[in-house]
Amino acid sequence: MPVHPPAPYPAARLRRLRQTAALRDLVAENRLAAADLIWPVFIREGENVEEPIPSMPGVARLSLDRLRRKAEAARETGIRTICLFPYTDPALRTEDCAEAWSPDNLTNRAIRMLKSDLPDLSVMTDIALDPYNINGHDGFVVGGQILNDETVEALVKMALAQADAGADILGPSDMMDGRIGAIRLGLEQSGHQRVAILSYAAKFASGFYGPFRDAVGASGRLVGDKKTYQIDPANRNEALRCVARDLDEGADMVMVKPGMPYLDICRAAKDEFGVPVCAYQVSGEYAMLQAAAQNGWLDGEKVMLESLLAFKRAGCDAILTYFAPEAARVLRA
Ligand code: PBG
Repeated sequence: MPVHPPAPYPAARLRRLRQTAALRDLVAENRLAAADLIWPVFIREGENVEEPIPSMPGVARLSLDRLRRKAEAARETGIRTICLFPYTDPALRTEDCAEAWSPDNLTNRAIRMLKSDLPDLSVMTDIALDPYNINGHDGFVVGGQILNDETVEALVKMALAQADAGADILGPSDMMDGRIGAIRLGLEQSGHQRVAILSYAAKFASGFYGPFRDAVGASGRLVGDKKTYQIDPANRNEALRCVARDLDEGADMVMVKPGMPYLDICRAAKDEFGVPVCAYQVSGEYAMLQAAAQNGWLDGEKVMLESLLAFKRAGCDAILTYFAPEAARVLRA
């Protein structure tokens, strides 16, 4: 959109509309609402457990009973979508990752519970093998190589199990080639025409995922890195090609991840394709802001809201953020 050049001073004084809160609100170009937020939650087995994650101050792995309570409280503050990430029992992490598509795995039980107890809450899932893989990778590893097509077959099984459990939005986060098309076909062929796919389309090989890997218990296990499937942080065109490809294959929404260091990709995806774009403010971004706030170096509430608003300004429709419950509370006050 063209920006009108200001008349020469003093006809134009751009400070005029900044003088009061009422004027500033009147001309605010972007606004953040609780309904824009997707809350990523870590879940674990057990009862009445909240296990803090040291590298993510304020975030804990929740047993399903605690999840129910927290989800209900979040919904009351206006959060409409929750995204589930499991901490899988180490005994269930295997080379064949079979737990990933077990109908009764932790995630699928959580989906069923949420959809039966809080039916108007949307439940999003993650599709990738890393929480179930003995070596922490998103795909099958054979002889040090990450297998693409065999992984895609497994991801389809995983997706269908989640759809059967009642998931509203599936989030393939693995970056294998061809997975969106394969999952979409699987959903269409099994009566799940209404299930949406939010593709982690522009997912970069980032250092900012560190605390997440602690949270799902993948850090110690990860052998090597994810650079043969996640995008090189140097590449904008490649990220946009991934977005185009995933849309062609049947994604309903696309994600850019991480968020703050990749706002240029958010803006480009919105402008080029005009589709729903989400950003994931990832674990390392959250940890950075929380750490500075805890040290008294930044005002935590201010930088939380400012960082989330930046995603709206960059063209995002929705934001996955660990700040979601806190931000929703502040926005409602
Ligand atoms: C794994 C996955 C990751 C995140 C979401 N899904 C980590 C990774 O790719 O290693 C990261 C989220 C975060 O850092 O908050 N498929």
